[in-house]
Amino acid sequence: MAIERTLSIIKPDAVAKNVIGQIYSRFEGAGLQIVAAKMKHLSKAEAEGFYAEHKERGFFADLVAFMTSGPVIVQVLEGEGAVLKHRDIMGATNPKNAAAGTIRADFASSIDENAVHGSDSEASAAREIAYFFSATEIAPRTR
Ligand code: PPS
Repeated sequence: MAIERTLSIIKPDAVAKNVIGQIYSRFEGAGLQIVAAKMKHLSKAEAEGFYAEHKERGFFADLVAFMTSGPVIVQVLEGEGAVLKHRDIMGATNPKNAAAGTIRADFASSIDENAVHGSDSEASAAREIAYFFSATEIAPRTR
């Protein structure tokens, strides 16, 4: 399987619950390496730009308000089939539908506050990684 990169966000609810380390352990346990990371408090413009594809959706204003309500941790994960592998370990968008043992089943409380974001395709990953990181902020993979 090809080595890929994907963009992950630990959302404000999970940062507030103090489960950053537990979520990082899930990434590492799945064979994904964290090759870039930063804590950020997103501005309204940054959140609106990141979620621009959803701007016509009814939940857009609430999503932007939530994503700017506190700090997030943004990271680039790298590994074999990273995009799908990361989506698998996150679980379904709505934690009510998330499989047992997934990050959202264990740490998310609702579809509005669902703990993590992950790119949904290689094309989205390339765009989302470039949204938050310059090439020099991404470390070469070590394993
Ligand atoms: S959908 O419903 O299939 O279009 O959802 P998806 O494309 O996976 O992602 C939508 C993002 O918006 C967040 N969000 C919500 N989605 C659906 N319904 C409600 N009410 C809602 N509120 C917020 C959802 O978590 C997705 O964010 P990310 O960061 O991509 O996971």
